[in-house]
This record gives sequence, C-alpha cells and structure tokens, in this order.
Amino acid sequence: MWLPCRCTSKTIVTSYARRVFKSYFCVFGRWKCDVAALMPEAVGFEGVKDCSSLQEFSVSNSASFWAAAARHRLSWIKPFHTVQDCDLSLGRIKWFEGGQLNVSVNCLDRHVDTCPERVALIWERDEPGSEIKAAPGDDMSPRKPVETAWREKGDCVTIYMPPCPLAVASMLACARIGAAHNVSSTVITVNQGVRAGKVTELKRTVDAAVKDCPSVQQVLVAMRTENPVTMTAKDMDMEEEMLKEDVVCEPEAMDSEDVLFLLYTSGSTGKPKGVVHTQAGYLLYAALTHRYVFSYQDGDVFGCVADIGWITGHSYSVYGPLANGGTTVLFESTPIYPDPGRYWEMVQRLKINQFYGAPTAIRLLLKYGDQWVQKYDRSTLKTLGSVGEPINTEAWEWYHRVVGDGRCPVVDTWWQTETGGICITPRPSDPEIVPGMAMRPFFGIKPVLMDTEGKVVTSNPASGALCLAQPWPGMARTIHNNHERFIETYCQPHPGYFFTGDGAYRSKEGYYQITGRLDDVINVSGHRIGTAEIEDVVNQCSAVAESAVIGYSHDIKGQGVYTFVVLKKDADDQEADLSQQLNNMVSKNIAKYACPDFIQFVQRLPKTRSGKIMRRVLRKVVERDLDGLGDLSTLDDPAAVQEIIQGHRKLC
Ligand code: WT7
Repeated sequence: MWLPCRCTSKTIVTSYARRVFKSYFCVFGRWKCDVAALMPEAVGFEGVKDCSSLQEFSVSNSASFWAAAARHRLSWIKPFHTVQDCDLSLGRIKWFEGGQLNVSVNCLDRHVDTCPERVALIWERDEPGSEIKAAPGDDMSPRKPVETAWREKGDCVTIYMPPCPLAVASMLACARIGAAHNVSSTVITVNQGVRAGKVTELKRTVDAAVKDCPSVQQVLVAMRTENPVTMTAKDMDMEEEMLKEDVVCEPEAMDSEDVLFLLYTSGSTGKPKGVVHTQAGYLLYAALTHRYVFSYQDGDVFGCVADIGWITGHSYSVYGPLANGGTTVLFESTPIYPDPGRYWEMVQRLKINQFYGAPTAIRLLLKYGDQWVQKYDRSTLKTLGSVGEPINTEAWEWYHRVVGDGRCPVVDTWWQTETGGICITPRPSDPEIVPGMAMRPFFGIKPVLMDTEGKVVTSNPASGALCLAQPWPGMARTIHNNHERFIETYCQPHPGYFFTGDGAYRSKEGYYQITGRLDDVINVSGHRIGTAEIEDVVNQCSAVAESAVIGYSHDIKGQGVYTFVVLKKDADDQEADLSQQLNNMVSKNIAKYACPDFIQFVQRLPKTRSGKIMRRVLRKVVERDLDGLGDLSTLDDPAAVQEIIQGHRKLC
C-alpha cells in the first residue's frame, strides 16, 4: 500500500486518485494519448497529441519545449531570461541564462517540504539484508557535512567514496555551497571500502595521491568499517567535523551555467578527459529522462546498480531520481555476491520497480542459469534498463524473458558521459521494442547519420557516424581546462553537429541501433562491419562466455578479424573444434568475410573498472606495439594483459 507520510489529506486523496487513474488508463492503453498525463507541461503545445508528436514538437520548437520543462520541473531562485544560446560549430553551449537555482534544494528541500518521511535513499550494503533507509531528515541531509573549510563558492572537492548516503550527501553539500565536485583542495573519502566481502584501502589510495597533490589542503575521512586508519596532518574525521557544524546552511544561488561537477572519461586515445556539466540543464535533463525513459512514477523504488562515481550513477542513482522526489537504491556490492541471485534477491527484498544495469553483468548472470532468477519474486519490476555497451540479442532476450518474465519492457539506453543523460532509447509504452535496438530519440534529441564524406544520410535503412544535430540541456559544456580539445573532439569532425564517436544503423522504420565506437568498425575486403556484430554471433555459441573482436592490418584484405574468446568454466569442447564451429557460425550468420582469421582463447579480457573491455589494449597487443599500450590507469586487473601478450605470441 502506498501512502505518502505526513502529507495533508488533500494531497493523499489527490495523489492516490491520480495513481489509480494512471494505472487504469495504463491498462487500457489510453494513458499515452492524454497529453496532460503524458507530460503536464506539454499541454497547449500545438499539434501535440501523443508521444511521437511531442518528440517532433520538442525538436522543432526546442526553446518552447525546454523552457516549459525547466519551469515545470525545476525550482528557481531567479527565473531565466534566455532559454538557449548555443552554437555547436563554435562549441558554445548555454542554457537558461539569467536563471539561478540550487541543485540541492531541487533534490531535497522541496521534497522534504511535501513529504518529510519519504525514503529517498536505500543503501544496499555489501551484505544482503543489511540495507539502511534514509529519509531526507537523516544522514543524507546536506546540512550536516558542510564544513567551513570549504564553504567557498567556486571551490573544488574530490569525492572518493563507495556508493553510500554520505557520498550523496557530499555531492549535494557541494551543490549547496557552490563547490564543483572533483579536482580540488578538499578530498572526501572513507577509511575502507567493502565489496563482495573484500576490504579495499581507499584511504591509503588517497594518502598516496595527496602526496603528489600539493593543492589538497584537507581530507575528510568517514568510517565505512570499524577499522581505524592512520590519520595525517591533513586528515579530519568527517563525522566529528559534521557535528561541529551549524545544521542550517543556506543554499547558494547558482547561475544556470556554473559548474556542477567534472567526471573523467576515457577517450579511445590519449589521457582521460574531464567532462564538465553545469547546474540547470544537466539537472533538468537527468530528471526528465529518469521519469520518462523508465516510466518512473511517484512512490516507485528505482534500482540503478552502477557505481555513483560514474555518470550513470550521477544521473540515475542520484540527481535524476532525487530531483523527481523519488526513492533510489545505492548498490555497494557485485552481481554475484554472495551468489548469482544477488540482484533478484535485492529486487524482491527492496521491492524494486525499475532495474537499470549493464549488459556485461547480464551476460555474466545468464551463464549461471535461470534458477538464480526464478528463486525470487520479481513481480514489482516494471521496466528493465540496459546501458554502457550494445546488448547482444541473447542477453537482451534472457533479460526480457527470464528476468522480466516477458512482461517488462527492456529499454536499451544509449548515451555517453558527454551527453549527461539518455539520448536514444525505446519508450516503455512502445507496442514494439526490437531486441538490441536503442530505437528512438528522447525528447529534444535529433540524431543524424553521416556518411564517409561527411554528408547527412537521409534514406533508410542506413549506417553512418552518429551525430546529434541540435544542442540539448544535458550536454557537456567543455573539457576541463581544455576547450580546444572539446571543440576538436566533438564539434570539428562534423561542423554544426555534436559528434558522438559512435556508429549507428537506422532501420527502414527509422529505428536506431548503435553498432559501437567508430574505431571498432573494421573494413574487411571493402566490407564495413562492426566488431560488435561478430561478437554477437560468437557469443551465441553455448561454450563462449565472452569475446572481443579486433581489426588488424592485413596485407590482402585491408583489415583482418582477430577474435579473443573467453570460454565458460564448464566448457569441455576442444579449442580446435570450437574454432571451426565459431567460423561456421559467423559465416552463416553474417558472411564468410567476417570469419575470424585468428581465435585466441584467453582466461579473461582486460577491462576497465567500470567493466568495459579495453579494446585499445587488445589492438596494440595484436599490432605488437607493446610500447604503445598507453594509459592503463583505468584497468581493473593488469595481469590480464600479460596473459594475453603471452597467448598472442604462441598463436602468431
Ligand atoms: C559509450 C559511452 C552511457 C553512460 C555510461 C557509459 C557506449 C553506451 C550504449 C548502448 C551501445 C552504448 C557507446 C558510448 N554505449 N550505451 N545502449 N548501446 N553502446 O558512458 O563511459 O561515456 O561511454 O558507451 O559507445 O559512446 P561512457
């Protein structure tokens, strides 16, 4: 039974009625035709009668659409006077100028006023069953951790913490006082992290980093475990400091375009880039996508299992759900701790309504079998989301059929750190969602495909470089300290467009499918092919756990196909037989030219800590450019690379 606590009876009656009304119309499919219900701010938009016409309106009347959304969804201290001032070819992106607001007020205060006992955060700690629920009045209030030492607007704070309410509180505390989080004079960390039963020495890592960082003046240390750690002259006990502080902290009025945070993202080459997001546009975009992509309704429990240190966690564990006054789960553990039923046991226990995870985890769990899913009650689930890389058909179907019992829409959401929020995604209300397709642009997004000559392809079906033809409020504004690199990377490849670096296919119905990074597209004997397409077929082999396909320079074909294959633990087939089998499968499902020239069986693939295969490293191994392996700082397990180098030597 859902009832907001301590609200007035009028609120109870109206919101309850609204909820019943919504479910009724959802069942009969009429809901989506009611514009007021679809998106209240869209009432009065000319010609808008359903989702598709609203999408068209949002693109052709971008300023009216975003102005209405910004007024309706955000609480402003001072209204904006200019909706947008953007020129993609110059890399100038400004939204809601003249406006002032405070992100923490939008994420907390205004919801505390309407429903003070609402559970905003559920901290799903490593040990199942030890979750902690926090209402805004508790621990996660931004008022407590605000510390005078960094109460300077414009200051920078690095947050190096596992998913926990204090990390969210720290992010919101920064937003409250106008300090951008990341790169800094202050670091906030915990003594130790706990994941899958293993303890990691986070504070020790901070100590080592601070040694080389004279700009850091103080380190606030919270206690995640009972174990004391050595404190240096710069260290302060965070909880002690919090107690000293005045609990009232007036929110700073921030300009729409002030920096909210920086996140570092790996490019396909070179050093990680510090992607900059700003206040109003980012928050609006995170909130709107969170609500509409997942069909999030008031009272739902939203479970995004990404680490909050990555953009997915920022937008869909923290800012989006909190700005919408929702309940969000902070997941500290792994998909297989203490066993492969972890996600679904958690779904049952916390009654999660929307689950948002990564294909790499889905593929892993699929191999353990259906029984781990079926053991648990998943009847609360309404929408399943996927993010981070293309989801292969086998994984998509398993997610849909087994996890969602065939009744929950699966939304394969395409976006990037740079886009701030989801840009291409199916709509949960779509009668038809094609497995493995990101399908349709979100409101305000206009994707285009470019051919090799840099011309927009207008026909369908088509493939090309995916660009976004007009700015949207959630997009990155610059690369920290390097606007030139921002322009070079995103604006110059196709002047006037935002270049995503991804390739995409558009079906004859106009649906989009992301084929992978453009540098993962190879050309074999004049045939362009996405390495992900070959992997998709290879992964369908029952003995294969995972694979990675790399193009390498080939005298005759231009590029050849090199395949790394990880076998399932119990696979007892002979490698030689398997190679033949894989070749046959690729030949049958794609074409003979796509068959692997080499198949190297490996124990594991080199991955980043966020679970992405580091293809750049595999390519260098195959090119025998061991000096050019590049920056390995985001690699999860460096030993994986050595194993692969040795295996490659034996094979070639
Ligand atoms: C790159 C962005 C999206 C936030 C987390 C990762 C790939 C992302 C999909 C998808 C196919 C996808 C793209 C994109 N990607 N989502 N649904 N289907 N590919 O953010 O680390 O900035 O990575 O991830 O290649 O460019 P990121």
